[in-house]
Amino acid sequence: GRGDGSGDRADGPGGGLVPELFSWEFASDPYPAYAWLREHAPVRRTTLPSGVEAWLVTRYADARQALADQRLSKNPAHHAEPGKTGIPGERSAGLMTHLLNIDPPDHTRLRRLVSKAFTPRRVAAFAPRVQELTDRLIDSFAERGSADLIHEFAFPLPIYAICDMLGVPAEDQDDFRDWAGMMIRHGGGPRGGVARSVKKIRGYLAELIHRKRESLGDDGTEDDLISGLIRASDHGDHLTEAEAVAMCFVLLFAGFETTINLIGNGTYALLRDPEQRALLQSSLAAGETGLLETGVEELLRYDGPVELATWRYATTGLTIGGQVIPAGDPVLVVLAAADRDPDRFDAPDTLDLARADNQHLGYGHGIHYCLGAPLARLEAQTAIATLLTRLPDLRLGVDPGELRWRGGLIMRGLRMLPVEFTP
Ligand code: HEM
Repeated sequence: GRGDGSGDRADGPGGGLVPELFSWEFASDPYPAYAWLREHAPVRRTTLPSGVEAWLVTRYADARQALADQRLSKNPAHHAEPGKTGIPGERSAGLMTHLLNIDPPDHTRLRRLVSKAFTPRRVAAFAPRVQELTDRLIDSFAERGSADLIHEFAFPLPIYAICDMLGVPAEDQDDFRDWAGMMIRHGGGPRGGVARSVKKIRGYLAELIHRKRESLGDDGTEDDLISGLIRASDHGDHLTEAEAVAMCFVLLFAGFETTINLIGNGTYALLRDPEQRALLQSSLAAGETGLLETGVEELLRYDGPVELATWRYATTGLTIGGQVIPAGDPVLVVLAAADRDPDRFDAPDTLDLARADNQHLGYGHGIHYCLGAPLARLEAQTAIATLLTRLPDLRLGVDPGELRWRGGLIMRGLRMLPVEFTP
């Protein structure tokens, strides 16, 4: 039936207690609640902490299908209560027309244009820079014997990496770092300050894009991603300046907290599993990369950064997993639940870095499949390999029970990850 709220502990449809969602215990380990939902209420209307009602889809088969279902729109105008969902600050900053808020044919057009500039080849060419950034960050604490891997490592790496790639001058990158810090601290909470800082970033990007566009004429050789975006053309079609601004915003926004959390959650999972970690360390010591590559995919499946895919809205009444969803209702696909579905994965709660047949949904599925996946893989593989190689006896610096998870809706990640190691 429709909505019996989230905080209630009434009898569930399949018997037993409905687990409490979005509580503190849930944030530290949502997987038992997701197992319950998959089994008893795989498509369930729920009241989110913001008060918005949405359907949670938790089974792998339903999730995969929903991600590719074009009747589920990404455009918030289809929500019965528009304005209540989405990325904090994007509406008031005039940044609504980016990939995560649009459907075909507009989405097809923008995605085609960005794909001409943000190519796997550009990412591969960036590998030495990611290694350099990674080493520089590890240098900053390597002598100390302890660090907070979130603040000192996982947090700065992706923001500097994407700024470099875009072509944000080094002297301005700390503004982006401050902005990113604000977004992860307040992304799920009060929106006023966030809206102001999103506006500031928008203004900065607009100016930078404008400047780069003017100077392209002088020497068309600039090879940063912003210049690539300006030059990108498809049968004579180009991004407008406003589209380029929204594109840079979504690249920044979609790419930093996700990557922080892949490095954070992934390192944490390895530190808690000495056997798997030892396998990875000896494979790295032997100069192999195969286990690192399958391992980072497995870390994404096992405890990925995107707990719920970004918003979707039913444009028409439709059925998912036998459940009727009325037009106008938001649908949230719970990637973290789907990726632990025993109907799809053998021993889903076991970390198996060598797992074969790992078609996880951590990067989504269908036309909105993560555009930044090649960059995310590069960063996470570099970060994890370098940490385990340079700090071979890396260990948790606190009891796991003392760790706290951020309470945001879409993302899953640690606030801090204190570690110790021999300097
Ligand atoms: C889309 C995950 C890193 C850019 C997505 C989606 C997921 C995802 C699940 C689909 C959302 C949906 O369908 O609702 C991740 C994860 C990352 C990561 C787990 C890191 C581990 C990045 C990076 C960038 C990026 C580094 C860019 C620099 C994007 C963009 C989209 C997207 C632009 C929207 C694509 C579209 O709508 O066509 N990502 N992402 N992501 N991601 Fe990522």
